[in-house]
Amino acid sequence: MIELKHLTKRASTGGRELVILQPLDLVIPRGQFVAIMGPSGSGKSTLLGLLAGLDSPSGGEIWMNGEQLTRMNEDELARFRGRTLGFVFQSFQLIPTLTAQENVQVPLEIQGASGAARRARELLESVGLGERGHHYPAQLSGGEQQRVAIARAFACRPPVLLADEPTGNLDSKTGALILDLLTALHRDSGTTLVLVTHDEAIARAAQRILHLKDGAVVADTLAVADTAARADGHSDIPSAAASVVSASAPGRSAAGRGGEPNAHPGGAAVQAASPGASPGVLGAATPLKRERPIP
Ligand SMILES: Nc1ncnc2c1ncn2[C@@H]1O[C@H](COP(=O)(O)OP(=O)(O)OP(=O)(O)O)[C@@H](O)[C@H]1O
Ligand SMILES: [Mg+2]
Repeated sequence: MIELKHLTKRASTGGRELVILQPLDLVIPRGQFVAIMGPSGSGKSTLLGLLAGLDSPSGGEIWMNGEQLTRMNEDELARFRGRTLGFVFQSFQLIPTLTAQENVQVPLEIQGASGAARRARELLESVGLGERGHHYPAQLSGGEQQRVAIARAFACRPPVLLADEPTGNLDSKTGALILDLLTALHRDSGTTLVLVTHDEAIARAAQRILHLKDGAVVADTLAVADTAARADGHSDIPSAAASVVSASAPGRSAAGRGGEPNAHPGGAAVQAASPGASPGVLGAATPLKRERPIP
């Protein structure tokens, strides 16, 4: 679970203080897929950077899986990121001098994981790039690079994945494939997925949409559909009947406070897999299932 308590971010530019993020209180239950939307400059990337511990807030607290990020020093944060977080960026950010295989394998080796090479191979297979492990990023298309980045982000099985416009540099067909991969990985691994997007279609795949404007949450919408995505028991989100949509006042959380299990009817609206996505992502036995998208 992620909990933000009165989180704020300000910056001073040219002698003036700029409020980038207004005091934000928010609970994201474990396993929820949250899309963050809002106009350019509304604070989406800032919020994601704070969640990642890549930026420090001006005030407030960030709690993740019972640990308070805002009290950690750089070393503690680095260790925390290693065991808790995966990232996917708009610009892929693969290491250009490493092959696709090495880009996925190196984080595993840093973690001291055994069988790193084998797991990296399996991950590349799961994103449909089993044959491309020896290629360098420059030899891969944008969509392929993003698939490598997703494999890398999931390599250490992070409980939380943060993605900042992961389809922003891709055409819509490739973007749909990337979304399928992310939603399948989210579903199969029970990962909490916080994804920034400008794309309504992508946001519709999420269980919850936060709208930011001028650094404040102006709407917090829960979408509840079939709960098949949670049938594997990975998530602590309870089953819920269909059709809840709520908008809330700025700063209010639709997920309820303190992680009360019944306060967040987080359903699943996972888009159907496209044929290009290979089944059994992360080596899970379950193939991608066609599930009912939110109309
Ligand atoms: N370190 C900083 N100093 C000054 N201003 C900053 C700083 N970081 C971010 N900002 C400003 O804060 C606002 C929010 O930036 P942010 O990158 O979070 O927006 P965003 O919602 O991700 O936008 P986009 O959709 O364009 O990516 C912007 O006006 C930006 O210029
Ligand atoms: Mg941004």
